[in-house]
Amino acid sequence: MELWAGRTRWQGIVAILAFGLLLLVGTSGAESGENPNLECLHYVAISCRAHSASITDFGGVGDGTTSNTQAFKAAVNYLSQYSSDGGAQLYVPPGRWLTGSFNLTTHFTLYLDKEAVLLGSQDESEWPVIDPLPSYGRGRDTEGGRYSSLIFGTNLTDVVITGANGTIDGQGDVWWQKFRSGQLNYTRPYLIELMFSSDIQISNLTLINSPSWNVHPVYSSNVVVQGLTILAPVTSPNTDGINPDSCTNTKIEDCYIVSGDDCVAVKSGWDEYGIAFGMPTKQLVIRRLTCISPDSAVIALGSEMSGGIQDVRAEDITAINSESGVRIKTAVGRGGFVKDIYVRDMKMSTMKWAFWMTGNYGSHPDNNYDPNAIPLIQNINYHNMVAENVTMAGRLEGISGDPFTGICISNVTIGLAQMPKKLQWNCTDIAGVSSSVTPRPCDLLEDQGPGEIAACNFPEDSLPIENMELKMCSYARRNL
Ligand SMILES: *[C@@H]1O[C@H](CO)[C@@H](O)[C@H](O)[C@H]1NC(C)=O
Ligand SMILES: *[C@@H]1O[C@H](CO)[C@@H](O)[C@H](O)[C@H]1NC(C)=O
Ligand SMILES: *[C@@H]1O[C@H](CO)[C@@H](O)[C@H](O)[C@H]1NC(C)=O
Ligand SMILES: *[C@@H]1O[C@H](CO)[C@@H](O)[C@H](O)[C@H]1NC(C)=O
Ligand SMILES: *[C@@H]1O[C@H](CO)[C@@H](O)[C@H](O)[C@H]1NC(C)=O
Ligand SMILES: *[C@@H]1O[C@H](CO)[C@@H](O)[C@H](O)[C@H]1NC(C)=O
Ligand SMILES: *[C@@H]1O[C@H](CO)[C@@H](O)[C@H](O)[C@H]1NC(C)=O
Ligand SMILES: *[C@@H]1O[C@H](CO)[C@@H](O)[C@H](O)[C@H]1NC(C)=O
Repeated sequence: MELWAGRTRWQGIVAILAFGLLLLVGTSGAESGENPNLECLHYVAISCRAHSASITDFGGVGDGTTSNTQAFKAAVNYLSQYSSDGGAQLYVPPGRWLTGSFNLTTHFTLYLDKEAVLLGSQDESEWPVIDPLPSYGRGRDTEGGRYSSLIFGTNLTDVVITGANGTIDGQGDVWWQKFRSGQLNYTRPYLIELMFSSDIQISNLTLINSPSWNVHPVYSSNVVVQGLTILAPVTSPNTDGINPDSCTNTKIEDCYIVSGDDCVAVKSGWDEYGIAFGMPTKQLVIRRLTCISPDSAVIALGSEMSGGIQDVRAEDITAINSESGVRIKTAVGRGGFVKDIYVRDMKMSTMKWAFWMTGNYGSHPDNNYDPNAIPLIQNINYHNMVAENVTMAGRLEGISGDPFTGICISNVTIGLAQMPKKLQWNCTDIAGVSSSVTPRPCDLLEDQGPGEIAACNFPEDSLPIENMELKMCSYARRNL
């Protein structure tokens, strides 16, 4: 680093770019096995890259206090020239890399090594303000714009964000305080947001202390989220784990999430804005998720669901100390639909409500929502579940004149807490069936007798994303 001491930042960057170019020419590709100064890292990804660079080639300093925003921008800007020439990977070595928001490019991999920590800047000027999401009409925290995510991309294809369990630390405390004291100028940023993009992989990373949501793929398709550890204080506001929003063909696997809000929240836009945008979330697989969410849901569907949510398949889910398991949240004015939802093999312990659906969630972007826009909730299936220490088994509340129908619950055993609610199932404006459910469900879920409902219809086919193949890729790390 002493190489750049005393120079201006721009002289530094220009020199670094030239230096980086030399390195790239020298080390592009993975044919580095014979050089004793190079060590090969291996990782799996949807695609491998022909070109490589390290953030240190662009003047990055991993001391925890120097801002690397310009280094990341310069790196991505430089590497974007390889988008149509085999793509590029950007390596982040061990260190603490302070940065504001930066954008990714197409056919690009960001790799965070073990002990590499991206630290979110607490300086608001490091976060550009971008337009609200068209399907929301306004920011979630404030009217108007929103701070761009720490890692942001729009209109991209083939983007990988991965590593050897490197960390992205949003340093969210300052943002939570501003949110609580009403001092936010714009909606808080997320850690990772990819918008209007396809072929996305986000894997093998630890995400901590996000200012707000952690991972937000929106208006995107073919999305793989795997092996994430997401941690936020359970008291932190809106720190949802993973929020697929108006996305098609998404897989979320092997994640461990402790959160102040929902662990996974499936969304598709808000009231009149979401209805007009009309882009559903569909073909979503969620597997092997462990969640701790004392004040929210393990998997929430909504409340912003105005573009529709269809064909969600969740299995092997573990819930610990969470408010509710799967929760459907909607309201008059939302429009849209939540249909063909399948959940099986779920274990829950210490829950307020094992099952919860509500049609009066409220929370509107403004007063212009259409009171005739009623949501369609249909074909909701829960199978093979055990729960213990539960205060209330089911709170199922449809909308008067708009019942939630086709609810199927089978082979579910719910053990109650020491002081359970007297009424274990409270059902209004719903219709469905049940089989082998303890405690005995409400009359609106007519008991079909043991063995009568085989599996509440969990589909036997697989979704395209389940067949997406990962390749073994490498990066030649220079041992300095
Ligand atoms: C990222 O791209 C968006 C959309 O093109 C732009 O508004 C924003 O300013 C860019 N962010 C940065 C940090 O350059
Ligand atoms: C991104 O894609 C969307 C949807 O196709 C389009 O409306 C928008 O103009 C594109 N934005 C950019 C910056 O290309
Ligand atoms: C990744 O790091 C987190 C946080 O230190 C840890 O809890 C988790 O077990 C690690 N995951 C793997 C696969 O090593
Ligand atoms: C944000 O709002 C506060 C008042 O709430 C104001 O003092 C500050 O200058 C604003 N910051 C920006 C970057 O606009
Ligand atoms: C994540 O890491 C595990 C082992 O640490 C590996 O088996 C898995 O393939 C990785 N997945 C992705 C998508 O990076
Ligand atoms: C049961 O839940 C209560 C909170 O409702 C909690 O305090 C208690 O520790 C839990 N007991 C067990 C055995 O998990
Ligand atoms: C019922 O669910 C339990 C717990 O998930 C499972 O072990 C058992 O095999 C299921 N029974 C049937 C008949 O499917
Ligand atoms: C049952 O649910 C309805 C609709 O939400 C509510 O009005 C009623 O108070 C609930 N009953 C009990 C005993 O909780």
